Amino acid sequence: MFNGKKVLITAGPTYEPLDPVRFIGNHSTGKMGFALARCLAQEGAAVSLIAGPTSLTLSHPLVQVMPVMTADEMFAACQRKSEEADLWIFAAAVADYKPKDPATSKIKKNDDSFTIELVKNVDIAATLGKQKRANQFAVGFALETDQELENARGKLLKKNLDMVVLNSLRDPGAGFRHDTNKITIVKPSTVEEYALKAKDEVAQDILESIKAEWACLQKK
Ligand code: CTP
Repeated sequence: MFNGKKVLITAGPTYEPLDPVRFIGNHSTGKMGFALARCLAQEGAAVSLIAGPTSLTLSHPLVQVMPVMTADEMFAACQRKSEEADLWIFAAAVADYKPKDPATSKIKKNDDSFTIELVKNVDIAATLGKQKRANQFAVGFALETDQELENARGKLLKKNLDMVVLNSLRDPGAGFRHDTNKITIVKPSTVEEYALKAKDEVAQDILESIKAEWACLQKK
């Protein structure tokens, strides 16, 4: 099913600069997005892997790695690839906010307290979701600590996604900095629970689940 398809994947964190030496970021490693890119390329898909700062590398003739730093850069790269892509997978942990006015020189330590004004970043998945065609398929991720299913269903609707891969930080071995993950896949009419597995095996489960849902949509 993926052979010859074009896929856009976002992966890793974004870094939002405060000044030339500091940033606001998060613990995402990019492992899940990279594992999905590898599996999809092995199945013959041409993948644009738009990756925030990560130590991971991936060399495959069908994978184009596009390194970015900030959410704005990730969005710009996505816009270049989204229209031609058949499948969008938003696995990046995009920073929700960025410093309003990043300093052009290093901020010096003067006062006892220091306040940073943050402004909202673009929601990449939601913005692209508004332009999604009926023949395109979009997958989002949700990392939640409370009311997991309700929040994941909310993201399906809000971002016009076809499925959400839910991670609960309450599950031991799931989420950031683990080689394993425990996911629940939330689709408009089903919820699928999976056991704790290695991230490469989780990637394979996600792809099987995409195949099943996409095939159903194509029949409609
Ligand atoms: N996402 C995105 N752009 C953003 C924020 C999130 O593309 N600025 C994508 C993520 O890659 C993920 C999905 O949206 O696939 C859900 O991300 P999450 O951070 O859980 O959702 P938010 O909408 O930011 O909601 P909140 O942080 O309030 O739970």
